[in-house]
Amino acid sequence: MGEKRSDDASATQASTEPSERQIYGNSEIAPQAVKSQDLTYNDYLEVEALLSLQKPQSDPAHHDEMLFIIIHQAYELWFKLLLHEMQRAMDFMADGHPLRARHFLNRSVEIMRLLVSQIHIVETMRPVDFLHFRHHLMPASGFQSVQFREIEFMAGLKDARYTTFFRNRPDLKSQLEARLEKDDLRTAWSRMMRKAGLALPPESEDPHKRDIPEFFDQTVAAMVPVYENPESSLPLYMLCESLISFDEYLSLWREHHVRVVSRVIGWRQGTGGSAGVDYLRSTASKQAFPELWAVRTGLTRSDQPLSQGCPMGYGQVSTEPQD
Ligand code: HEM
Repeated sequence: MGEKRSDDASATQASTEPSERQIYGNSEIAPQAVKSQDLTYNDYLEVEALLSLQKPQSDPAHHDEMLFIIIHQAYELWFKLLLHEMQRAMDFMADGHPLRARHFLNRSVEIMRLLVSQIHIVETMRPVDFLHFRHHLMPASGFQSVQFREIEFMAGLKDARYTTFFRNRPDLKSQLEARLEKDDLRTAWSRMMRKAGLALPPESEDPHKRDIPEFFDQTVAAMVPVYENPESSLPLYMLCESLISFDEYLSLWREHHVRVVSRVIGWRQGTGGSAGVDYLRSTASKQAFPELWAVRTGLTRSDQPLSQGCPMGYGQVSTEPQD
């Protein structure tokens, strides 16, 4: 988007006024006025449409409602990208490319990191100011964020009860039900581990069976060698750790969000109808990859030499994504 078009280059230099050149450090090379048929930044990004989407419910609009709308919209945009990147990571897992999958997971982790810090912007809103427009939002709530639920479902946190809250919106309910039916990161991960030769039980790929203690314990046991001797399966180990980072940041988001909520509304009931802070705290212990958290507990020190060979066929591998 920022590249200069070569056929216009000489015209640009000739026509640029000295005062314009000063803006660009007196360079001979400077941006030129766009031609009416050119694709512009605003056109490409549909900026006008984007900026027309902030519609306060309070009238006259309370100053802080703009912050409230924009921060939620910004989250929804990042949620969209997260779903996009998570899907890509799953596709590479399905194709047996742990490092390429990790590349997209790491991008997801960076997005999550941003989402964790971003929540604190709403703390600049005084509790009393929120009270001025909060009642206009009812019963809307982040609880109804379809994309947030999709992220949970896609990670493997498949709780079908959440779809029932959308029974009066069949379109959204079917969107969520479709996501429930699809593979999730946890399934894609266990399938890849099994294809790599690790002794995870087949049930580890089944969302309805993987948490049954017998199968869960087998999965944890199968991961012990990878964690006791990471160099032996380095790409797999690195992918597992990226999944843990993803899960960690999802939990951190929950923790930061609930602290912000208690700071702004205390122990009031949520606009979505939940108990508010108490409900949010009850979600804090969710883990998308519980076996990867559990495996740490029973590890013993490995005295094996480096690189015993890798189930995915990698020898000494670089830490960079590969084809
Ligand atoms: C002043 C700021 C905020 C307050 C007071 C607040 C309050 C709440 C409350 C009370 C709930 C529980 C559900 C309910 O009964 O409504 C909730 C859930 C939720 N909120 Fe917020 N929130 C705030 C900002 C945000 C922001 C900026 C986002 C970004 C998208 C967000 C996303 C969510 C999500 C995804 C849930 C569902 C969490 C779950 O069910 O695990 N919230 N919020």
